[in-house]
Amino acid sequence: MNQIPYLKTENNRTTLMVDGAPFLILGGELHNSSGSDLSYMEEHVWPGLRRLGGNCYLTPVYWECLEPEQGEYCFDLVDGVIAQARREGVRLVLLWFGLWKNGGSSYAPAWVKQNREYFYMQGQDGLCIESVSPLCTGAVEADAAAFSALMTHLRDTDTERTVIMVQVENEVGVWGHPRDYSPAAEAVFRDRIPGEMAELYGVSGTWEEAFGLNACEYFMAWALSTAVGRIAARGKACYPLPQFMNCVPSGMGVSQLAGSCPSGGPVARVNKIWRAMAPAIDLYGPDIYASNFREISSEFAALNALVIPELGGGIDTASKAMFSAAAYNLVCFSPFGIDGMMEPISAHDLVAQMGMAMPPRPMVPAGELLAEAYRLIRALWPQICTAQQQENAFAFLQQSDFGHEFVLDDYIIDISYGGGRPGPGAVPQPRREDTPMGGGFILRLGRDHFLLCGCSCFVKIKPRYASRDQLFVLDKRELHLTECGFVPGRILNGDERNHLALGPAPAVQELKFYRR
Ligand code: DGJ
Repeated sequence: MNQIPYLKTENNRTTLMVDGAPFLILGGELHNSSGSDLSYMEEHVWPGLRRLGGNCYLTPVYWECLEPEQGEYCFDLVDGVIAQARREGVRLVLLWFGLWKNGGSSYAPAWVKQNREYFYMQGQDGLCIESVSPLCTGAVEADAAAFSALMTHLRDTDTERTVIMVQVENEVGVWGHPRDYSPAAEAVFRDRIPGEMAELYGVSGTWEEAFGLNACEYFMAWALSTAVGRIAARGKACYPLPQFMNCVPSGMGVSQLAGSCPSGGPVARVNKIWRAMAPAIDLYGPDIYASNFREISSEFAALNALVIPELGGGIDTASKAMFSAAAYNLVCFSPFGIDGMMEPISAHDLVAQMGMAMPPRPMVPAGELLAEAYRLIRALWPQICTAQQQENAFAFLQQSDFGHEFVLDDYIIDISYGGGRPGPGAVPQPRREDTPMGGGFILRLGRDHFLLCGCSCFVKIKPRYASRDQLFVLDKRELHLTECGFVPGRILNGDERNHLALGPAPAVQELKFYRR
């Protein structure tokens, strides 16, 4: 029997261990409904994923299908999708769509929805929100029982460890209101804060007295983390797979006030509460649909190893994957709607990238770029990790900027997007919608030896003026990844010597300098 997957932390780095070896999840999350029909999976999902070549996919387990009648479990869908994944030679991360999915209880079974004892949250207007209140202990217990049944079933049947991690619930939080205003919530909110919150923050009094403007959000974070913490702990006691939660990060282009982004969800600013109340959850990750990918990812990378369970699908995913692999202690990279991304022209990409209904011209198939990025990252992974440990990995990703400059003793690495940096007052050129954004990384393999992996950028590696030595290009060449590893391609001399341009498809180049 294979070892249970686990998270290992050593030298400040957390690694997901699968079958005793490090495992970087390079995959994607399926559309919400794909996993509810095994024949749909066969016809529409696996053919595309085969071409993508990811190593692990995130797919939901729906409470309403798992426990259609209270206490009567049906594992057919779960077993079916695991069997398909095993046949495909990939792993799975299961997403527990239990009491909460995007703040609502749409995946709760009918017997939960129709039983008024499982009371719902109420908004400020007194109307009920279609979401069970986290203060409803009966519902939380029912969810915990179902989640434990799932985890026990995995423990007993998934001896090959096809499932390597579990997400508990999905994007929890109160949507559209600062907090739950149900009578039960009102009573707790008007009362003095519980001992654990008093201890955590060194304050006392009612929620409003203790936390002022943050009261509603902290209250919801406490109520939700207490509920989810209970569910997660019950599941983990049955089968200790690594667990994580996803969230709608703040700064999604909307106000950061509680209620405008799901209030109480595990965003960075309430991480302290979640950590204290839900210790069974190992990692917290952002769903990144906003354009400030670098800011959001780095905020979560500062909390724990980085899991990106969802990001907007499209032609930029390849650049973001290469950037994330070298910028962070990455555990999981997973664009959403991955089963739609292998289409030749993906409608999903177009909507996400351009907000247009019809393509102006054929676009680069997003899935193929991502497939290439995954191949390269996987092949370079050991070198990336070593370079990161030695602070010799430099990652870059285009947002609304001209480029990046890294200064390392004798060298300056100058990355530019769209052809160099114009003078003062100039603004970055708008990027072409049919081309991926610039992104990738540079590894310094030796004092004068570099490896570049990325796309859509110009790179200049040049000596610093202050350098004692003069540095000249010794050798510059393309590297192609084949089944036997990297093989040298063109030698880039002459016209190609001075400018390292990388086109829209992810590529690798190696560069050596000599000194005089
Ligand atoms: C975020 C959710 O977590 C996903 O399940 C999905 O609904 C996506 N949004 C986008 O549709």
